[in-house]
Amino acid sequence: MGMSATILSARAYFPKPKATSRSRTTFMVSGSLAQYRRPPMPWRHPTTSRPLRGSEAARRTERGGIMGNVQSARRPQVLFGESVELRRHSREHYPLYARWYGDREIWHLTSWTPEPMSPVAVERIFEERENSSLSDSFAIHLPGEPEPFGIVSFINLNRANASADLSILIGEPEYRGSGYGTDAIRTLLCYGFEELQLNRVGLTVFDFNHVAIRTYEKLGFRSEGRMRQAVRRNGAWHDAILMSLLRSEWERRESGG
Ligand SMILES: CC(C)(COP(=O)(O)OP(=O)(O)OC[C@H]1O[C@@H](n2cnc3c(N)ncnc32)[C@H](O)[C@@H]1OP(=O)(O)O)[C@@H](O)C(=O)NCCC(=O)NCCS
Repeated sequence: MGMSATILSARAYFPKPKATSRSRTTFMVSGSLAQYRRPPMPWRHPTTSRPLRGSEAARRTERGGIMGNVQSARRPQVLFGESVELRRHSREHYPLYARWYGDREIWHLTSWTPEPMSPVAVERIFEERENSSLSDSFAIHLPGEPEPFGIVSFINLNRANASADLSILIGEPEYRGSGYGTDAIRTLLCYGFEELQLNRVGLTVFDFNHVAIRTYEKLGFRSEGRMRQAVRRNGAWHDAILMSLLRSEWERRESGG
């Protein structure tokens, strides 16, 4: 199947999405969707699902209490955002991932590698990610859609320091600019801060990637420095900007403070 046919069939698969109104992130753990849905939590806000300020859950979160222990035994299979679902990767989607990671525009915006990655390299990375305790990665779907349109991940998870780095890619261009990237990151952050008990989420972004910088700033990430002339693109040097979001900042924003 040629490239144009691949693109056509991908478009057919992805009717122009509509944001649905759905309550905040919830988690499903251990296996199939039918197996377990997190029970309603009286300490959470009924529509936002965030811990209520001053509640026992909020205090547990501050103490890094029970939730961290629970998640290490059972990784959630699905996270629900407002307009997207984050699901575990499926091998059948590796060719799609290979197309995204092999794309020159995506490479230009995201990658430290000298060239776009080969399908074999992409497959190896995802195999490794699935088995690694250093990463926690999800495919981004519209609710009910079998094919993902992006990937959002925690990488370099460091339990001792309660930190991780974030990486995101909306692989299908027609899905960019509709709020899905923001929702996918917010959903992963909610999981990271509330379930994994992270204290810090960091990332690097190239200085010319204005859309990504805007997206991160909107979510509360702050710039904390620059790796000067760390990236070369088309013969020109560019800085990589270091950004981070701390749990205290996240909680302040989420509670409307
Ligand atoms: C960066 C990325 C994740 C953002 O996700 P998205 O779904 O496209 O962005 P959103 O629709 O959530 O918009 C986020 C912000 O960026 C702005 N934005 C989106 N597309 C834009 C565009 N083409 N030009 C200018 N601003 C744009 C939005 O207006 C919004 O800001 P606002 O609320 O102040 O208006 C996504 O575009 C992407 O994956 N790009 C390619 C890979 C990449 O760059 N990854 C990040 C590497 S560090």
